[in-house]
Amino acid sequence: MSDKVILAYSGGLDTSVAIRWLQEQHGLQVITFTVDIGNVPDLETIRQKALDVGAVKALVVDASERFVDSFVFPALQADAVYEDQYPLATALGRPLIAELMVEAARKEGASAVVHGCTGKGNDQVRLDVSVAALAPELKIIAPARVWNMTREQTIEYAQTHGIPTPVTVASPYSIDENLWGRSIECGVLEDPWNEPPEDVFIWTRPPDETPAQAAYMEIGFEKGTPVTLDGQGMEGVALIQRVHVLAGRHGIGRIDHVENRLVGIKSREIYEAPAAVVLLKAHQALQGLVLSREQLRFKRNVASHYADLIYNGLWFTGMRQDLAAYVESTQKYVTGTVRVKLFRGNCQVVGRKSPYSLYDYALATYDSEDAFDQSAAPGFIHLWGLPVRTQAKAQSLFPEKG
Ligand code: ARG
Repeated sequence: MSDKVILAYSGGLDTSVAIRWLQEQHGLQVITFTVDIGNVPDLETIRQKALDVGAVKALVVDASERFVDSFVFPALQADAVYEDQYPLATALGRPLIAELMVEAARKEGASAVVHGCTGKGNDQVRLDVSVAALAPELKIIAPARVWNMTREQTIEYAQTHGIPTPVTVASPYSIDENLWGRSIECGVLEDPWNEPPEDVFIWTRPPDETPAQAAYMEIGFEKGTPVTLDGQGMEGVALIQRVHVLAGRHGIGRIDHVENRLVGIKSREIYEAPAAVVLLKAHQALQGLVLSREQLRFKRNVASHYADLIYNGLWFTGMRQDLAAYVESTQKYVTGTVRVKLFRGNCQVVGRKSPYSLYDYALATYDSEDAFDQSAAPGFIHLWGLPVRTQAKAQSLFPEKG
């Protein structure tokens, strides 16, 4: 068996210590792998650090586009939001990272994939299950589930092994971020009664310090995918980044969620997801115009299923493929434009239009152009109410009403 392993490397303390620990404890050669999905400001510095700490090779890849096209936009089309609150940024990143790691492992002839997740979270599940689905032959090693070191012990290990330790006071929070959102936990946030202090937020202004003037934005969709901003065509990554900046400036996208982790723990998480909040809202508004009532009702159930599945690490499954096929079919006519108003932490949809709109002015209006045949209503209501009258007569459902 090859003694080479691929380590998902962030450049942080834990994964740096892991490089040395794998060498020392297991005699393994470590190839680090760093993925940028809108979260790594300087790939080159991380690459160099990995080599300095002792990696035999350091791979870096910018996968932002693939992240958006293959994970973020499909989730947007599905309206996937976990427990009606969390747009799933972290959860969507993991299957992509697993997929890329598997590709790298095969190319480099590695026998195992290594990650820095602990045994309490969702991320370990997402990575382990995804790797197992794509490459059952690969072993998975998660040093943090094995070594049982406290933060102090990790720092001590780093110092005795000449691994650079953070000079600045470490953030009291555990943070994960990518293009679709930022997840923040730990520290004072662990008491769900504590209001999140302002230093938790980086992407969004406090709503009471946002511009006094509202901003408007027109988002153009094609088959459920956002493709223009204020009439200008844009690639997915750039479009998300632009919405992110504007919405963040207006304080939109702060989420405070006590969520149910797969491992059974309730955890308090703060999210910042300005672009996700705006785009999800706009997408739903457009769907409201072009999908029938039945399609909308059914799709809501699919959305919650889909979100659970993403959250629970089941991206690479037949069930997701099936739901994705359904969602894709629903997006055929989700083409059009949505106008949103951004103001003081709020994103409001104020206009929508589509060449496939089911909204019929002549049917809806109370003006002279009214084309709705009101004389048909009594007959319709008579039949609609038929089973109601039948049951009310046959059974005493409302005895108290005499
Ligand atoms: N709770 C979120 C999830 O399971 C985010 C976890 C990300 N980790 C973090 N360090 N905040 O997807």
